[in-house]
Amino acid sequence: MDLSKRGTFGSKFGIIAAVAGSAIGLGNIWRFPYVAGSNGGGAFLLIYLIIVLAIGLPVMLSEFIIGRATQRNPYDAFKKLSPNGHWYIIGIMGIFAAFMILAFYSTVAGWTLEYIYQSVINGFKGKSAGEINQMFTSFNTNTLRPVMWQVIFMLMTAVIVLGGVEKGIEKYTKILMPLLLIIIIILDVKALSLPDAREGISFLFKPDFSKITPNVILSALGQAFFSLSIGMGTLITYGSYIQKKDNLTSSAAIVIIADTAIAILAGVAIFPIVFHFGLKPTEGVALVFKTLPNIFAQMTGGTIFAVLFFVLLTVAAITSSISLLEVIVAFFVERLKMKRINATIFATVSVSYLGTLCAMSEGGFSNFRLFNMNFFNLFDNTAAKILLPLGGCLIALFVGWFYGKDKTWLEISNRGKLKVGYLNIFMFLIKYIAPLAIALVFLNGLGLFKF
Ligand code: PHE
Repeated sequence: MDLSKRGTFGSKFGIIAAVAGSAIGLGNIWRFPYVAGSNGGGAFLLIYLIIVLAIGLPVMLSEFIIGRATQRNPYDAFKKLSPNGHWYIIGIMGIFAAFMILAFYSTVAGWTLEYIYQSVINGFKGKSAGEINQMFTSFNTNTLRPVMWQVIFMLMTAVIVLGGVEKGIEKYTKILMPLLLIIIIILDVKALSLPDAREGISFLFKPDFSKITPNVILSALGQAFFSLSIGMGTLITYGSYIQKKDNLTSSAAIVIIADTAIAILAGVAIFPIVFHFGLKPTEGVALVFKTLPNIFAQMTGGTIFAVLFFVLLTVAAITSSISLLEVIVAFFVERLKMKRINATIFATVSVSYLGTLCAMSEGGFSNFRLFNMNFFNLFDNTAAKILLPLGGCLIALFVGWFYGKDKTWLEISNRGKLKVGYLNIFMFLIKYIAPLAIALVFLNGLGLFKF
């Protein structure tokens, strides 16, 4: 592979914008509230925060290290560092995870596109909570519409991925993500001014320790990995585009703070609405789509806000989906020597095919159940609760035990230029804490092992 042809991110802000673009997306605004709502609220949030700090940050940094040190896609990165080992399997698992995640991710992004359309035609105005609820159900049980939007979303993603690294990714995220943040804060203010907002807020922030079960912990682990885009090599791929002079640790820290803040702000907007309108936090995957339109239906200028919100949510979803598609495309190009355009088309067509299974999981395929889950939940759960934690565990083990302290120091200190006072803590976390915690939570949550 000709390294000179590989793109790099133009500036430090460029990397942060791109990695944050990958991390911040439907995971924060759609998935976090629904998973937190189904797993006890405050207790979930507390465990989530601990996991993000003690496991998420070290694993993210590990991915950056592997990516920047090798300048390769995940598969070749492991092959380069350990030519005779089998660590490249992490790269292969990552490709599988990318396919699965994209399949349901593009489905939810498709729902978002439908909601842009509904906002534009003024579809929420004056509707009651019951009607808004019904709107989602009748849309999602329709077989064709969700598929149509899902395919449109994948096409949008493909077009951007074809544009290449710098042009494709950096340009959009810089301006639009801050705008999304502003809209969410406006929604927060609206939600907090509801008369009984307190109930929603204490649901999210007041931990009820009796609600903590092995599955709640596993859900928090899965959500943390999903939201931070870690455990499958996305950030190895992005790390390979980071310049040698950039500071890996501070970039990771900034992304983690931003990602977590946005998830919490989304929760602050959603849970007061849940309680005010008599909905249930355990609504599941439709939670965001059944709650926020209630605010848009009532507020002055609601239509414009609704359009803006769903457009920006789509943009946030695209900056994440391009990072997922990039994992697959970079592998096809660099390993299978495909042309970028062919790789992109092939990946997009196969993902769209898998995506239709998810998009129709409450429509045409509503009778399909495996382990009591439809296609959508099956892909969502397999990726977040199995593939990502497993990948993260292996990545931590790789850097902690195989790559080792000296090389790790070289990479995170930019060959001695930066001070790394936290090196020992970092090594301790990735050698022992992260792998052990993931293994225990994993086995325990799947019921294979009891504390
Ligand atoms: N982190 C993204 C989100 O929160 C989803 C994602 C997961 C992207 C894994 C890349 C890899 O929306």
